[in-house]
Formats: sequence, structure tokens, C-alpha cells
Amino acid sequence: MPQVQEIERQIFSSPWPRNAYFRELSSRNSAYYIVLRQDPPDGGDLLGYGGLWRMHDEAHVTTIGVRHDRQHEGLGRIVFAALLVAGFKLGAKWVTLEARASNLNAIRMYEGFDFKVIGRRRGYYTDNAEDAIVMWSDSMYSGRFRRVFVENLARIEAQAHEHGYDLLGLNLDGLAGKDSG
Ligand SMILES: CC(C)(COP(=O)(O)OP(=O)(O)OC[C@H]1O[C@@H](n2cnc3c(N)ncnc32)[C@H](O)[C@@H]1OP(=O)(O)O)[C@@H](O)C(=O)NCCC(=O)NCCS
Repeated sequence: MPQVQEIERQIFSSPWPRNAYFRELSSRNSAYYIVLRQDPPDGGDLLGYGGLWRMHDEAHVTTIGVRHDRQHEGLGRIVFAALLVAGFKLGAKWVTLEARASNLNAIRMYEGFDFKVIGRRRGYYTDNAEDAIVMWSDSMYSGRFRRVFVENLARIEAQAHEHGYDLLGLNLDGLAGKDSG
């Protein structure tokens, strides 16, 4: 938790208060949170994190972040892919999220998973009255969603191979496997 909060302070203008995380983590039925960690001997540092809520057929991504000094290395893609698999395994069919309209890096990442902008919430962010862009995935059961997911998986694996690291504890097959429906 302290490491997540440290990252949040670096990357968000309005980080979540500490008790928000406690509240989230105690909602075990519907909330799911993960961290991406670099294993020792390289330090054991937390690199990124993310979370979602599952509500009926929908998974709502509540937060995602990567350490400021490790952004744009493909780590956000790993966290986001892991969240999509988690949402699917929790029984969601669709995934939705909001992003600040100015947050083009995040929006590009979601578009890279074929998410589409379907609306705008005017003045949604209270700190600067910025609009929120609302994005949705296609059905996670659709061939198109699966194809794009598999392409992202291939990038994640190629990147791990190139940089010589293993993706321990990360099972992304749920959405890519032939038997997943
Ligand atoms: C958004 C965020 C999680 C993405 O993580 P990341 O590790 O930087 O992203 P990745 O390296 O995995 O890149 C995935 C895609 O995102 C987009 N992207 C991410 N960072 C980018 C940058 N600095 N410039 C341009 N595109 C970028 C690109 O489309 C990229 O695909 P590419 O590799 O084909 O160019 C990260 O930038 C972050 O923590 N930002 C601050 C917090 C935040 O905005 N969270 C989202 C709230 S909605």
C-alpha cells in the first residue's frame, strides 16, 4: 500500500486517500486489485498496479498506474491485460473505464486493446473540472476482442523476451485460450 501511494503521488494530480484502498480491498466480492512487481535480485520494487470492479456483466476499471520513471516500456499494457483477464474470469462480458480527456497516453493504450470512446462526462473531475472520456470494450467473447487481445499478448511476450525477464504469476491465457468460450 505505501508503494502504491508513492506511485500515485507521482502520477496523479488527485491520488486516492489511503482509506479508499482499504475500502476497495475489503469489497472482496466485486473488487479486484493487482500489482506488478520486479522480483529480486533487481530490487523487488513495485512497478505498477491496477484494479477493477465487477458489476453484473461489466468490469469497471477503477485505477491503473505505472511508476513515473518506468512508463512507456510496455508495463501498463501488462497490467491492463491482466485486468482484462481478471474481469473475464470474474464473469464480466464487457469492460468500461473513464479517462481524463487530456490523458492521451492512457487513451491510446486502451485504444490499443480496441476500446472505443462512447461518451463524455462534462466536468467530471472535480479538481480541475476536466471532462471524462468514457470508453467501452467490445464483448470479451467476440472474435475481434480476442484477436486484438492475442496481438497484445504477443507484444507482451516479445517484450519480455527482448528484455530477458519472465512474467511470473501472470496467466493471460484465460482470454486467449481456445476453450474460453
Ligand atoms: C497510462 C499508463 C498506465 C500506461 O502505462 P505505460 O507503461 O506507460 O504504457 P505502455 O508502455 O504499456 O504503452 C502502452 C500504449 O500506451 C500508449 N502510451 C503510453 N505511454 C505513452 C507515451 N508516453 N507516449 C505515447 N504513447 C504512450 C501507447 O499507445 C502505447 O503503445 P505503443 O507501445 O504501441 O506506443 C501510464 O502512462 C500511467 O501510469 N500514467 C499515469 C496514470 C494514468 O494516467 N492512469 C490512467 C488513468 S485513466
